[in-house]
Amino acid sequence: MSSHPALRDARGRPLGTLRLSVTDRCNLRCAYCMPEQEYVWLPREELLTFEELELLARHFVVAGTRRIRLTGGEPLLRRDLPELVARLARIETLEELALTTNGVLLADHAAALRTAGLKRITVSLDTLDPERFERLARRRELPRVLAGIAAARACGLPVKLDTVVLRGDNEDEIPALLDFAREQDAELRFIEYMDVGGATHWESSKVCSQEAMLDAVARARGAAVPLTRKDPAAPAGRWRTPDGQIFGIIASTTQPFCAACDRSRLTADGRWLLCLYAREGLDLRAPLREGRSAEWFQERIRSAWSQRDDQGAVERLKLDERRGPSMDLDALLQDPHLEMHVRGG
Ligand code: GTP
Ligand code: 5AD
Ligand code: SF4
Repeated sequence: MSSHPALRDARGRPLGTLRLSVTDRCNLRCAYCMPEQEYVWLPREELLTFEELELLARHFVVAGTRRIRLTGGEPLLRRDLPELVARLARIETLEELALTTNGVLLADHAAALRTAGLKRITVSLDTLDPERFERLARRRELPRVLAGIAAARACGLPVKLDTVVLRGDNEDEIPALLDFAREQDAELRFIEYMDVGGATHWESSKVCSQEAMLDAVARARGAAVPLTRKDPAAPAGRWRTPDGQIFGIIASTTQPFCAACDRSRLTADGRWLLCLYAREGLDLRAPLREGRSAEWFQERIRSAWSQRDDQGAVERLKLDERRGPSMDLDALLQDPHLEMHVRGG
């Protein structure tokens, strides 16, 4: 089955990374992702089972996927997640299996995830101040997140930390978060606020740009120097402070990485999206439940990927002054697949 020629999209990008969302539910309400009071959830019976997720993952791996990242909503809300990790960890040609979590439930599950074969973990951490955390995420959960990070480290899981920097909300914590990451021996990445579906309160004045982030780092530590990317498809540029700390910046709002983007995402109900900003996706759940063959899936995946020419973040950048939230609330209520928390952060 793996004798196919390498699969490239219309812009020459390989099918490298699959982000598998395992649930659309979340136990936080981060201002940049879930600012609304009410949400429409995916019906539970429409969620893929672990058997189905594994089967689809295997089809993608045959088509060329080398890295899988489990996402949500909050993936640890999916019951028995380590069992799915164990199933995916058995796929031989997969080079990487990772998880992005908000950390709230991590202390309870870190050891089981590690044992199941998870290779590394990324925890979102936007502030170290409990009151601010509650303001930004509308839940009082900072202590549990910090305990989760500690638990992951204690069982030997390499940890990355992701911080979305919002102008006027947490940009003043750039130095403190860098210090924290150094203490924790974790690589920190600062992320620009993106105008993705779900970010209904997005405005350009709230974006802290890579340039402003680097200024803040320079004031605290001296000017950081750029390093070459380990992997051209990685969203984060890497930097080093004069005192030797390496950190990343994901500048998808002001400097999109679309030209090298090798990622697609599968929603928890089996919709395959070729871009973070895509409005439409391909339903893979119905064919799966109809019992389509492995060959059928190869043909479907390969023909869709070879036609992919999406570069959503580049298109958003072209809007310039006219830039605002990319989706309106009515559209989001009609189709939850447009939400960032449904398409896996
Ligand atoms: P590693 O580099 O392997 O650690 O993975 P990653 O950076 O993809 O992991 P993570 O889930 O932590 O993603 C980091 C952030 O990058 C996300 O939370 C988003 O803010 C941003 N991001 C992820 N995927 C996309 C994408 O497809 N397009 C754009 N423009 N941004 C993305
Ligand atoms: N801008 C940037 N990153 C976002 N995420 C969710 N919404 C946004 C947004 N509007 C990402 C964050 C978070 C992860 C789960 O999803 O990185 O840590
Ligand atoms: Fe926050 Fe992630 Fe939940 Fe969105 S899905 S509200 S970013 S924790």
